[in-house]
Amino acid sequence: MSVIRLAIIGCGGITLQNHLPGLALVPEARLVALCDTNAEVLERARAQTGVTIVSTSFEEIVRRDDVDAVIIATPNFTHAAIALAVIAAGKHVLCEKPIALNHAEARAMAEAAARAGICHMTAFTYRFVPAMRYLGHLIRRGDLGQPYHYRSCRLQDWGARPLGWRQVKKLAGTGELGDMLSHRINFAHHLVGPISRLVANTKILVHERGGQPSDLDDWVAILAEFANGASGVLESSKLASGRNESWRSLDYVEINGAEGSFVFITGQWDQLQYGRVGGAGLATIPVPREFWTWPGSPRNPDEGDPLVTFRYDQVFEFIDAIRSRRPCVPDFHEGAAVQQVMDAAVQSAALRQWVDLPA
Ligand SMILES: NC(=O)c1ccc[n+]([C@@H]2O[C@H](COP(=O)([O-])OP(=O)(O)OC[C@H]3O[C@@H](n4cnc5c(N)ncnc54)[C@H](O)[C@@H]3O)[C@@H](O)[C@H]2O)c1
Repeated sequence: MSVIRLAIIGCGGITLQNHLPGLALVPEARLVALCDTNAEVLERARAQTGVTIVSTSFEEIVRRDDVDAVIIATPNFTHAAIALAVIAAGKHVLCEKPIALNHAEARAMAEAAARAGICHMTAFTYRFVPAMRYLGHLIRRGDLGQPYHYRSCRLQDWGARPLGWRQVKKLAGTGELGDMLSHRINFAHHLVGPISRLVANTKILVHERGGQPSDLDDWVAILAEFANGASGVLESSKLASGRNESWRSLDYVEINGAEGSFVFITGQWDQLQYGRVGGAGLATIPVPREFWTWPGSPRNPDEGDPLVTFRYDQVFEFIDAIRSRRPCVPDFHEGAAVQQVMDAAVQSAALRQWVDLPA
């Protein structure tokens, strides 16, 4: 397969920030169609890209013979229906996270994608931070030893501003849990393995945003046990006042094992902190240059702001997997596994009880 012809469904924030600049770096990808239900947003994207096939109906785009693959970047409640239509049309699909509103939907998407034999990918963008990929490599190499503890902390200051669909349960599913913690649950799966049971709490602190009700969590915490016996503590907040709202605010992961400890911070994309068991404490280790870009990515890591540009490797991975006829990393199965943990967290918070996850 030479050039992959792509359509983007949903031309809002994340499409402008990640998908369009990422696609511009991949010569083997050609953006051929755009879809958004908001005519103004669609026109802005058309003017910006020069793409001539535009529609406000995803069904119209999905059935086109001149589209090989689709990026879904719409609000969460639309993901499952659009993805299932894309899969039924036999096209490859990259879907924004969280891929669905609940695990049943996510599992149906993963199973349908696997049956159809198409490439399926979940946009867990922070897996593309060079330091995260290097950390995964070091852990697989054995530098951590038996994992003891996983700890993640995402602290932002979103204040009481209106969040649009993100503040409405039936449109977003969950608040901070799906928005931010889903990425860190995926880190936990990637670095430690599956979670076997958890207890969680969520909190709505701002009940009205922009004069509209906000019925979703601003804060979430999970106490987890992993199948391999490790323990986990995951916390995420939109209301860590004064910490700023961006990827420059705190995004911290610490992992302790029998052989040592590592600290990953998204803002420090080219380094980790590492301490050996019995040693003097944590010291900085640089991420080798070969990890600064995703394998095969044409991106020049010396160009642009590295805290922005690592995101562009995500769409490269999607296109490269399609062309190489191999599974994408991370795929819908990873998206569904995260959704299962999210469902358990919602259930646990509602019941005020520990919840077991199936093996
Ligand atoms: N991977 C990441 O790091 C990351 C970051 C931000 C957002 N996201 C995810 O991306 C998705 C979109 O978020 P956003 O911030 O871009 O939202 P947004 O509101 O800025 O954009 C969504 C767009 O989808 C359009 N839309 C809604 N329903 C549609 C439909 N049925 N068909 C076609 N278009 C439709 C809207 O008009 C809007 O323009 C969400 O799932 C979000 O969780 C992921």
